[in-house]
Amino acid sequence: MMLDREQIETALRQKNCAYKLCCLEQTDSTNADARRAAVQGAEHGLVITAETQSAGRGRRGRSWVSPAGENLYFSLLLFPEFAQEKAQMLTLTAALAVAQAIREYGIDARIKWPNDVVADGRKLCGILTELGWRPDGRYFVIVGIGINVNQQQFPEEISQTAGSLCLQSQKNMDRSKLLAAVLSAFSSCYGRFCAQQDMSGLMEEYEAILVNRGRQVRVLDPKGEWTGTAQGINSRGELLVCREDLTVEAVYAGEVSVRGIYGYV
Ligand code: BTN
Repeated sequence: MMLDREQIETALRQKNCAYKLCCLEQTDSTNADARRAAVQGAEHGLVITAETQSAGRGRRGRSWVSPAGENLYFSLLLFPEFAQEKAQMLTLTAALAVAQAIREYGIDARIKWPNDVVADGRKLCGILTELGWRPDGRYFVIVGIGINVNQQQFPEEISQTAGSLCLQSQKNMDRSKLLAAVLSAFSSCYGRFCAQQDMSGLMEEYEAILVNRGRQVRVLDPKGEWTGTAQGINSRGELLVCREDLTVEAVYAGEVSVRGIYGYV
């Protein structure tokens, strides 16, 4: 069954969330669609979903395999009022919203900094945030979200690290209901982010479900890798990592990524 646009819109109206939905059967990438729509005059709050993507994009130039009808693939178009340097923090904001929506289903979803949503060490969701500019110079943000919902089998390369909501809960999920829950959670998190224009209003909730917190992480810095203990985040969304000599370093997601020392988390 395809996503039910009316059901999603009704649920969102009840929660006072103003999004405009565009539900596609197939596309290359919903992030690419959102970019095209933004340039052609689409407005803040557009959400483009697809049942399948032929060229789904992941972070760091990777692809996002997007089998039809099983999962959620969607992109949110935003025209923020704040300076564009702050926009990367929306990735963390979106991760928090997705994790909170999944937790409503009784699944212990957590965040692997900066923006993977995981459960039992397996990745349930990936987020790709991209910037763009309209011909009039106004910048926009595309938050692209892929959630593994009802997928039960994964390609060999990711079979050890990928999971899905269905595998976690042993139940098939209603994707329309889940999308409404994610968009509603995002409205709330986005509002609180905009109020402070940083992570300070969301930090406590983010850290409460940050899987890296208190754990050893390997910081994959192109200038040299090192190991430390993750403590939490600061208001800029950087990961605070304590080195062996007890100095604390703020690690920026645009430059480095982290890995658990025993595997993916
Ligand atoms: C990651 O590598 O973890 C990020 C994956 C983001 C995938 C989503 S699916 C919907 C949207 N459209 C894309 O092409 N990518 C994002």
